[in-house]
Amino acid sequence: MSLPKHVRLVEVGPRDGLQNERQPISVADKVRLVDDLSAAGLSYIEVGSFVSPKWVPQMAGSAEVFAQIGQQAGVTYAALTPNMQGLEAAIEAGVREVAVFGAASEAFSQKNINCSIGESLARFVPLLEAARVNGVQVRGYVSCVLGCPYEGEVDPARVAQVAHELFTMGCYEVSLGDTIGTGTPGKTRQLIDVVGRRVPRDKLAGHFHDTYGQALANVYASLLEGIAVFDSSVTGLGGCPYAKGASGNVASEDVLYMLNGLGIDTGVDLDALIAAGERISQLLGRANGSRVARARLGQ
Ligand code: HMG
Ligand code: MG
Repeated sequence: MSLPKHVRLVEVGPRDGLQNERQPISVADKVRLVDDLSAAGLSYIEVGSFVSPKWVPQMAGSAEVFAQIGQQAGVTYAALTPNMQGLEAAIEAGVREVAVFGAASEAFSQKNINCSIGESLARFVPLLEAARVNGVQVRGYVSCVLGCPYEGEVDPARVAQVAHELFTMGCYEVSLGDTIGTGTPGKTRQLIDVVGRRVPRDKLAGHFHDTYGQALANVYASLLEGIAVFDSSVTGLGGCPYAKGASGNVASEDVLYMLNGLGIDTGVDLDALIAAGERISQLLGRANGSRVARARLGQ
């Protein structure tokens, strides 16, 4: 299969990245990060989450962040919403696109959202209906698609089932999350082969955490399978609070560099993205997590 000519990058750094930070980060600093990312040309930014502040304290200020970002035309600013309470808070904050998140592993579902996979899907049905009535678009996530921190191997057929249910209930796109980054390119291709029989490939996205250093290879493997939407995190920020030891998503800068090299258009400016990543790295007192940024910055 030939490679796609255009890829949409979904920047999840402000949400998937920062949700894992223990140190306090001000609303102003989060706003600056989001604004830097839209200035770099990203057309989709996951800004925050409307989840329980007891579960994920860092996302507590998401409504303020939404109120203060400089929203640009043509850019989607999205938030995670695990239930109706989250959707209502997101709508109240003026959010026009949300994401629901389920899992392919029962144990992870319990740890992350305190309910079974079946309960979560049942909860999403009225959420999607309310979102539709309010003109809010809904994206879906499936976590643990290539391994679970509690259950180990995950059967691709289970991933396909959950992805199919999210898609048929109205999620316009389903992002396949390698939450703990254990996937390898061959398994990624096999997964897309199985899931692609239940959900069209142009409705799937890849979301690869880089814990085992496989994420960029998995993005390439997915491109070969016709996937053209990838979630990534500036400077590789983050992890999941309910997947101990998992590192951040693949660095957006590294994905962009590879896509540029393949002649695939994204509309994102690499230098501006590197500057955004370096600013947040310095603010967090962290080494820059992008190999490309480190090379370019001589670090
Ligand atoms: P629960 O305790 O079962 O919820 O948590 P509940 O309905 O029984 O309510 C208990 C309390 O939570 C109540 O407050 C509610 O008001 C409050 P209290 O009366 O005790 O003061 N509450 C809320 N507060 C704010 N916003 C809400 C909300 N809902 C209830 N939306 C719940 C269930 C889902 C809320 C909880 O488990 C939760 O917030 N989990 C979020 C976990 C999370 O955000 N994880 C990280 C994101 S997922 C991820 O990173 C993976 C991904 O990147 C893909 C991948 O990598 O695989 C997407
Ligand atoms: Mg994630």
